[in-house]
Amino acid sequence: MQHTEIIKLLGREPSLVEVTAKGWVRSFRSNRFIALNDGSTIHNLQCVVDFSAFEEETLKKVTVGAAIAVTGPLVESQGQGQKVEIQVSKLEILGEADPEEVKLTILSPKRHTMETLREQAHLRVRTNTFGAVMRLRSKLAFAVHEYFQNNGFYYMHAPIITGSDAEGAGEMFRVSALDPNNLPKDENGKVNFKEDFFEKETNLTVSGQLEAETYAMGLGKVYTFGPTFRAENSNTSRHLAEFWMIEPEMAFCDLDGNMDLAEDFIKYVIKYALENCLDDLDFLENRLLQEEKNKPEAERSEMALKEKLQFVLENNFKRVSYTEAIEILKYSKPNQKKKFKYLIEAWGADLQSEHERFLVEKHFKCPVILFDYPAEIKSFYMRLNDDGKTVRAMDVLFPGIGEIVGGSQREERYDVLKQKMADMGIPQDELYWYLDLRKFGTAVHSGFGLGFERLVQFVTGMGNIRDVIPYPRTPGNAAF
Ligand code: 4AD
Ligand code: MG
Repeated sequence: MQHTEIIKLLGREPSLVEVTAKGWVRSFRSNRFIALNDGSTIHNLQCVVDFSAFEEETLKKVTVGAAIAVTGPLVESQGQGQKVEIQVSKLEILGEADPEEVKLTILSPKRHTMETLREQAHLRVRTNTFGAVMRLRSKLAFAVHEYFQNNGFYYMHAPIITGSDAEGAGEMFRVSALDPNNLPKDENGKVNFKEDFFEKETNLTVSGQLEAETYAMGLGKVYTFGPTFRAENSNTSRHLAEFWMIEPEMAFCDLDGNMDLAEDFIKYVIKYALENCLDDLDFLENRLLQEEKNKPEAERSEMALKEKLQFVLENNFKRVSYTEAIEILKYSKPNQKKKFKYLIEAWGADLQSEHERFLVEKHFKCPVILFDYPAEIKSFYMRLNDDGKTVRAMDVLFPGIGEIVGGSQREERYDVLKQKMADMGIPQDELYWYLDLRKFGTAVHSGFGLGFERLVQFVTGMGNIRDVIPYPRTPGNAAF
């Protein structure tokens, strides 16, 4: 018999027609009630068995983690918590799970630390928390595409293997087909990459921006949504070595238009989650409330998860220049009392996440967009302002997350860009094609990058970025 997803069955009215469900056993109580989950929803299907009607041998195999198929009519549930349940007339064991072995895994129904869950990343999606997070991740990805497709953007696939460093920060993973034990050398004794697969040095992309700019200068409005890689040694709850980035790029758009887009886009996907993922959000909200009960009152968040999402929808992001932000930070309590790890002494200082979080969480108490940063602390491609010392950059800062978006208006003037590259030591021969854009029909254009995992973190309330991507890659860890 064809099986039906549990999410569909739970939405049906009771009926005598027999249905089949397939899934994994979450629990089996009193030799009578099986809680079955198939991943289609956070909710389990209650399956009621009359144990006298089945072989003992079969019932013994209904253990936590086993895959089974059940058939029977959907009847009105006698118990609480669900409208319907299945009255099992046929029970089939599809894949057994030895209870002795299950006991040693995170499938066993007891509390496991997040670290243990990470070590069993191949099983963790079968828990309620990770099921909810990964369903949300999928829905959010869909909302991202929907937003751009509905707003006149074309999806552009930027290359994963590139020959340039888009951020000019040198945090790249090499790509090579050379044998590390037998490297070809040139006359100077250096590795001869002419003999490598691409006949040059290549790396995994850190950002699709530069290529996206070339496409925006032909298609008008484009966005990328793909994996990006950074070999930065940051062991924090906000950094991954492999993460997914969304990068819109728009011709004929300045920094104000760019900020408008970032705000509108983020609000759209958050609204989508509230409208389409309520069951999972309810679960995650409760999970956070439970977790916070163990914290001292002062450390608990002021808002519950959905309230926090609603708050973002209903309030304008506060737009503040870097210069204003430095003034606020300089005279702030934690700076005066030397509580910041990095004290803000003068204009030009790079902002650390402690400063960003102070601005968002303590000072403004809402999402903040900082703009017009000092040229020195930002990438080479950002448009220089008339003051000659700041660039048209913007970062969107979120509560609990810090920087969620980084973007800018791009330097469209050939001479200014060339000079900037020379000053910052960016190789112009490698990026001749990027300079070409400024020769052939240059135009004002802007874009930004949003770290998808940081967005998923914000929406799900998960504290660690390793828990919103199926198989996290971080310094010292590429398990699975
Ligand atoms: O600020 P970033 O480095 O900007 C760029 O890469 C630009 N090329 C984007 C553009 O203008 N098209 O990165 C953009 C965003 C950050 O705001 C952050 O959300 C995320 O990418 N991000 C990371 N997320 C997880 N792990 C990391 N190591 C990240 N580095 C950046
Ligand atoms: Mg940035």
